[in-house]
Amino acid sequence: MTRVIAVANQKGGAGKSTVTVNLAVALGQAGRRVLVVDTDPQFDTTAMLGLSPEDAPHTIADVFLGEAEAADARVVDAAPRVDLLAGDGRMADVELTLVSQVRREEFLAEALSETMQEYDFVILDCPPNLGLLTVNAFVAADEVLVPVSMIDRNAYKGAATLLSTLETLRRRRVDVRTLGILRNNVDARRNTFQTLNDALPALDAPLLSAQIPMRSGFHDATTEGIPLVLRNPDGRAAQAFRELAAEIDPTVVAVPDPAGPITAARGTAVPDPSDPTLVEVA
Ligand SMILES: Nc1ncnc2c1ncn2[C@@H]1O[C@H](COP(=O)(O)OP(=O)(O)OP(=O)(O)O)[C@@H](O)[C@H]1O
Ligand SMILES: [Mg+2]
Repeated sequence: MTRVIAVANQKGGAGKSTVTVNLAVALGQAGRRVLVVDTDPQFDTTAMLGLSPEDAPHTIADVFLGEAEAADARVVDAAPRVDLLAGDGRMADVELTLVSQVRREEFLAEALSETMQEYDFVILDCPPNLGLLTVNAFVAADEVLVPVSMIDRNAYKGAATLLSTLETLRRRRVDVRTLGILRNNVDARRNTFQTLNDALPALDAPLLSAQIPMRSGFHDATTEGIPLVLRNPDGRAAQAFRELAAEIDPTVVAVPDPAGPITAARGTAVPDPSDPTLVEVA
């Protein structure tokens, strides 16, 4: 069974694209077949995989415009076992033209319906708003993963707004559940982390155990177009993404980090441990 996960938060810079790319790579490393779909007109996810829209046979904009099928548009093996439906700056115009169309919220679900069956996971990166492209992703998705930047003072309000949008969609019979809130940019020594960490459990959504530490390596990985999980597999950040993959798919087991989970007491300023590997149990 394919699981379709939208990575969404209308707040800019929460880490949606970073999480999309690195989670996809971690699942790919665990032997899962993954399709990444870059719905954001900024196409950061495409760039984080070292690609540009021109590198793809077709882009997601061509699919939305009816000029290509999703299956023919894919970049195969953008990373090991990870295919990509590349983003495109033209998606900003596509979103405007969608507004006047019938079944405008179901376009992506229909376009992906056959292709998605070839994968264990389809991960949809969303733009930083709750517009039609994001709603298309919610309608196509089974689950929504919500990265929250733990250095953003307003992150709680942003996540609450997103969850209430999902609730509204569910009342309209859109079948999508909240996979969980993912703490990103974690530096447990910061006051903002402590405040948010105390507040987030009050939200009506599971709080995932895996936490993504704040690491400058993410910036360098973006510049180089190599996801950090591939670029620095021995680092704490890569380990955190393997833990996230194992939490999302319990048939994947990430060997625990010998230094233990990130906690307030431990902080994140620990030396990177040796690379724990993934073990298949199913
Ligand atoms: N855990 C982290 N540690 C350090 N930097 C991070 C981390 N996560 C993301 N970043 C950096 O923060 C910036 C924003 O991340 P990203 O582009 O993934 O967010 P986004 O939610 O997709 O943004 P947008 O809303 O613009 O689509 C990037 O420069 C990225 O490298
Ligand atoms: Mg993004």
